[in-house]
Amino acid sequence: MSEPVVNAEVAPAPAPSATPAVPSAETHAAERPHVVQFTKVTKSYGEGPKAFTSIKDVSFTVADLPGRGEFITILGPSGCGKSTVLRLIAGLAPQFPQTSGELLVFGKPVTAPGADRGMVFQDYTSFDNRTVEDNIAFGLECRGVPQKERLEQARQWIEKVGLSVARDARKYPHELSGGMRQRVAIARTLILKPRIILMDEPFGALDPTTRLNMQDLIVKLWKDQEATVFFVTHSIEEAVYLGDRAYIFSSSPGTILKEMKLPATYKPAKVMQREQEFLDIVFEIRDLIDKLETSTRAGDD
Ligand SMILES: Nc1ncnc2c1ncn2[C@@H]1O[C@H](COP(=O)(O)OP(=O)(O)OP(=O)(O)O)[C@@H](O)[C@H]1O
Ligand SMILES: [Mg+2]
Repeated sequence: MSEPVVNAEVAPAPAPSATPAVPSAETHAAERPHVVQFTKVTKSYGEGPKAFTSIKDVSFTVADLPGRGEFITILGPSGCGKSTVLRLIAGLAPQFPQTSGELLVFGKPVTAPGADRGMVFQDYTSFDNRTVEDNIAFGLECRGVPQKERLEQARQWIEKVGLSVARDARKYPHELSGGMRQRVAIARTLILKPRIILMDEPFGALDPTTRLNMQDLIVKLWKDQEATVFFVTHSIEEAVYLGDRAYIFSSSPGTILKEMKLPATYKPAKVMQREQEFLDIVFEIRDLIDKLETSTRAGDD
């Protein structure tokens, strides 16, 4: 399994003496660099007639909102480049680096994975041979945090993500349900307090009830985290419920077709997702995607 290695790459912090990528809290709002800025970013693989372009001229800006981050949801058909966008932000090959265009994170070009960005994948990406608490403490271990302190923090996170220290801390991943494993994956990432959280269909493999519970969990955790989230999902309901803003991508080569501002989340997922006002937005996006897909298909003929 390759993904834990990827997380390991994301985990280590830069040396304390390095120039901080993140502005201090005192930085005047107007001087704060954007969290993420894509300018005409294109990614192609191969050359000549065999060349394939996965995303084309993708441009967007996510501003740094003082005291709070923004929750961006990304929707689009399979293969349109959603994971590509996340992995470019994370600095993960082979999607990174881009073929052309400019990609800035906190005002600087991305050169590699960094501790300011953390990723949660759809696949359960814990280390099979580590217990829950050791999995959650892994990133802190990479940073050289002493064992007692990192286990203390890991146990706090076990409770924060709705697991139980007494029941679950010493379990191994194969002893957990899918939902529990994703709770571990979320804790592993958030314990490192990344300023940018990248989530690639994290609830895609979960049953509907577990999924709603996980959405509530994310809303609760995110409010404390003050981070910017990029959250890829195939569920329009999930995108509308969680997002402050949604980017809707075209089919391959992916490009942003529409950006939508979304209503604030203020009720539990199960309640809010039954309300007419909520459903109206979901249907509006569904109609829009249907129309976009039809016009894209027509264009392909
Ligand atoms: N290393 C690679 N070499 C060649 N093509 C690649 C590579 N990685 C991704 N692609 C292609 O880039 C396109 C976009 O892939 P990506 O994984 O970003 O799509 P996605 O929108 O996340 O799809 P899904 O919803 O199915 O997860 C796909 O056609 C994929 O096959
Ligand atoms: Mg994907």
